[in-house]
Amino acid sequence: MRQNTQIRRLVRETVLDTGDLIMPVFIKEGNANPTHVPSMPGVIVQNSKSVKDEVKTCIDLGIPAIMLFGIPSVRDNCGSSAYSSDNVISSAIRSLKNVFGDDIAIMADLCLDEYTDHGHCGILDESGVIKNDETLLLYEKTALSYAEAGIDFIAPSGMMDGQVAAIRRALDSAGYQDTAIMAYSAKYASAFYGPFRDAVEVSIVNGGDRKTYQQDIANANESLREIALDIQEGADIVMVKPAMTSLDIIARAKRRFNFPLAAYQVSGEYSMICMAAENNVIDRRSAVLEALTVIKRAGADCIITYFAKEAAGYLHDDQ
Ligand code: PBG
Repeated sequence: MRQNTQIRRLVRETVLDTGDLIMPVFIKEGNANPTHVPSMPGVIVQNSKSVKDEVKTCIDLGIPAIMLFGIPSVRDNCGSSAYSSDNVISSAIRSLKNVFGDDIAIMADLCLDEYTDHGHCGILDESGVIKNDETLLLYEKTALSYAEAGIDFIAPSGMMDGQVAAIRRALDSAGYQDTAIMAYSAKYASAFYGPFRDAVEVSIVNGGDRKTYQQDIANANESLREIALDIQEGADIVMVKPAMTSLDIIARAKRRFNFPLAAYQVSGEYSMICMAAENNVIDRRSAVLEALTVIKRAGADCIITYFAKEAAGYLHDDQ
């Protein structure tokens, strides 16, 4: 059964497809030129012009969706540039929809951490504790401005309790019933987000962390409860993150819920492969395809990955 390529193809259980891939796209307000992210080799922070070329490349490669992340020029304690009408993401959605229509699905991460001066995903009280319910109101405002700009999927990543229900209610009551939600449902407080914070220029005040709102990596049942809640609250796709350290969660979630499931191969997973390959420790192409295929084998329907364009190229060559 493993004798040669053709026989292996016949009995292959998991086939990675370009249609499974979602490409993250960083866009920085006022960025004169596209810039590199030092800790993520090959990842570029776009500006309002270059983002169109990046998205065109994704479309040409057959990638079905992008996930936008914004880097604002101004940050304050309540993240107000996240929900201003000329927000960097809303402006990008408007111009990308204008140029590309439905040739690619547009998703945007919805969170406050890129927009607050303290770097937390919500607003804080005087003692530095997250105000969950007040934060939800700002998520709703942000969701409405993205929806108004024409987004396909809102992707709330802040891990506030009730965020999916709040956003769903706000969207429905403003007439955006067709705007979908990809929920970061099981999101761990992970060391593997380090390079991403470099890309979005976020550092958490006083050397803080997100352990009061992101999940403890030691817990699995909690993830299943979080996913169940998000499905109940109206999520259209649920997500598990990071991917490589949560393959057990992906497998259990798929079996338990049989619901559209995304996995996020995060920045640290990306950079580890890049850096090991650069040092000739592993073979890059095989490692990329293996990492993505096993995420799918575990049960993910789609994968957010910084390798999306590269993998699409490999899959195209293989045909
Ligand atoms: C929050 C957000 C983060 C990531 C995606 N959305 C950072 C965090 O939670 O600290 C991490 C993604 C990655 O590491 O690639 N806006």
